[in-house]
Amino acid sequence: MMVVRVVLFVIAVLAVSAAVWWWLRGAGPAPINVSLPSVPLPQELAGDGVLVAWVAQAGARLEPCGCVAGMHGGLVRRASLIAKLPRDRRLVLECGGWSGGAADYERLRTATYLEALHQSCGAIVGLGTAEVRLGATHLASLIPGPDGAPVVCANVTRSDGRPLVPASLRRHIAGRDLVITSVAPRDSIGDGLVVIDPVQALLPLIKNLGGASLVVMADLEEGALTELARSIPGIALVVGGKVGQPSREPIAVGAARVVHVANEGKTLGVWNWGTPLCAFDLIHDRIPDHAQVRSAIRSYQERLATLDLAPDERLAGMTMLSGSTVPGAHYVGTTACTACHISAAITHSASRHARALSSLMAKGYRHDPDCLRCHVTGLDLPDGFKRRGDDPPQAHLGQVGCETCHGRGSVHVAERSAGRPASGSLQPVTPATCQRCHDAENSPNFDYPTYWERIRHGHP
Ligand code: HEC
Ligand code: HEC
Ligand code: HEC
Ligand code: HEC
Repeated sequence: MMVVRVVLFVIAVLAVSAAVWWWLRGAGPAPINVSLPSVPLPQELAGDGVLVAWVAQAGARLEPCGCVAGMHGGLVRRASLIAKLPRDRRLVLECGGWSGGAADYERLRTATYLEALHQSCGAIVGLGTAEVRLGATHLASLIPGPDGAPVVCANVTRSDGRPLVPASLRRHIAGRDLVITSVAPRDSIGDGLVVIDPVQALLPLIKNLGGASLVVMADLEEGALTELARSIPGIALVVGGKVGQPSREPIAVGAARVVHVANEGKTLGVWNWGTPLCAFDLIHDRIPDHAQVRSAIRSYQERLATLDLAPDERLAGMTMLSGSTVPGAHYVGTTACTACHISAAITHSASRHARALSSLMAKGYRHDPDCLRCHVTGLDLPDGFKRRGDDPPQAHLGQVGCETCHGRGSVHVAERSAGRPASGSLQPVTPATCQRCHDAENSPNFDYPTYWERIRHGHP
């Protein structure tokens, strides 16, 4: 009697999960409709001078993944903050580190990022170590055409001497002539690119300023930033780079000012030209979405759904756990375990692991390899979850299933079904197994004893 009840319960739980899965499959992300309130500028930004706004190391983050509440950063919110700065006073700088990596989908995301940045913020873009590392061919493919975001750099050229991007550009903002450029560190290395000494590269610009103020985005260490400002008389503002802490006050080096940016695009720095303090806005999750960036995110996700992307080995590594998996074993999916491990299956189906793909679908990220790698079983492996395949629905792999932790199960199932003893065909599970997904960025509160307690199953 007890067994029948348990079986019925399991069937009910599975049916409800399947229904929820189908329902979420059809539903896209909720439409977002925000109009930004027109609030007065804070005191320190009032006036009529240039407002320089900057961000660095943004890594093409369109929005934070949302794996835990309260994540900071993302263009979709930053653009809303920038929209509050009066258009005719603002100079928006995107310092080095904006690119998102070399995998196919990361290129596409970076291109989306630059376009959305251009449309929403009108930013001027500099180059840093991360961009040089991509190499000439890849980097050139990311540089937008004349209608896209302007990219400038004074000290990076192709190996044959041909320029990759213009050295600088001029802007007239709030009554001030500005020449804007960027420099990457001398030791950055990328195929087909040459990086010359920043000081040597800037000297010709100084000669041709003609009364304009020179603004340099510099992906340099703290000491090198000061050195740059000291070596080049006539530099007005250095915005950089590889520093631990943002600077509250612009640092005076002679007539020049140096401001330090904070990392990973989690804060927006703004300096009201000539005033003694910088303003910093934490890009928190209560800032409303910028409509244009939100629609860019949506179309990026729609494109991912239609594209065959070259597999990214790093991604597969997330769920293809190394160790004692028996050769020849393949994924069979959670449903193949249920019959013999009822209590484990009940615990699992009630846990968030069982709904990991639904969470992505609810957010409109169903086809994003960058998310799926931790939210399904065996992403894009021959026997694993297929990013673009959903016919038939892969519900048994579209979750953090039993096999993401225990390893491929076919040999175990065959052995146990035949009544044979275990041959060690499943792999041991350790806290390190969890931390492949529960890492510092995506699960900052992870603590093995606490988390294990919430999904405890198997023998007591
Ligand atoms: C490195 C692994 C990893 C990656 C990559 C990842 N996630 Fe997650 N995600 C997790 C983990 C682990 C949790 C549970 C975190 C916790 O509760 O501590 C989670 C939770 C979530 C949740 C549930 C949040 C809630 O409070 O209900 C959502 C939604 C989510 N992730 C979306 C995404 C999206 C979107 C992406 C891609 C942009 C992504 N994740 C990429 C590991 C990852
Ligand atoms: C035909 C029944 C059957 C099926 C199907 C089955 N198991 Fe088992 N499993 C057993 C038995 C019997 C044991 C040994 C007794 C025990 O530990 O509960 C076992 C043991 C285990 C163990 C303990 C370690 C070991 O290797 O002995 C794990 C973990 C496990 N199973 C996971 C799974 C997973 C994951 C699946 C689905 C891929 C699965 N089982 C499918 C019957 C089955
Ligand atoms: C393949 C990636 C992956 C592995 C491995 C993994 N998890 Fe998770 N875990 C996730 C994801 C993704 C979520 C969030 C699912 C969602 O809500 O969308 C999650 C959520 C959870 C939650 C729910 C958190 C909450 O706040 O309620 C617990 C608990 C948890 N995991 C524990 C563990 C433990 C313990 C291990 C190791 C034994 C582990 N996980 C291994 C990906 C993983
Ligand atoms: C998030 C990771 C994770 C998932 C998902 C998971 N398990 Fe486990 N499982 C563990 C851990 C950790 C243990 C305890 C450590 C151990 O004995 O390996 C365990 C223990 C077990 C045991 C007892 C092993 C023993 O010898 O005591 C069985 C059986 C088992 N799991 C089956 C399953 C089945 C079936 C599923 C899917 C319905 C599943 N597990 C899903 C992590 C997981």
